[in-house]
Amino acid sequence: MTDPLVKAARAAQARAYAPYSRFRVGAALESESGEVYVGCNVENASYGLTICAERAAVCAAVAAGAQRFRRAVVVSDADPPAAPCGACRQVLSEFGRDFRVDAVGPRGTATWTMAELLPAAFGREQLS
Ligand code: THU
Repeated sequence: MTDPLVKAARAAQARAYAPYSRFRVGAALESESGEVYVGCNVENASYGLTICAERAAVCAAVAAGAQRFRRAVVVSDADPPAAPCGACRQVLSEFGRDFRVDAVGPRGTATWTMAELLPAAFGREQLS
């Protein structure tokens, strides 16, 4: 049986808008209350304005009222599976250091915790 979070991320990947790179990414976040929020990459003719799938999913979750995550899944066609980029790690890290992040590719899955993906993160502690 397919993991529901992977299924949600795959469905989002299919909706990616990536006419420039042709690299389609889907992300799904499971909140602590069990809700699922998805995002996909949305590219732009002004390339630097591109939004990654993970950050799109974070925005969808926060807009819907979820701020604590249990798990994140990122699906792409990269082999080995593509981990979130540095900017997305920083944004995900704002909402939890302990949750699991799975990167799914065509031939397997790589798993980390958020803290493993972004050790020594900059966070709210630095601002107080
Ligand atoms: N991309 C993501 O959506 N997430 C990442 O973590 C890395 C890169 C997207 C951005 C761009 O549309 C395409 O992948 C190629 O960089």
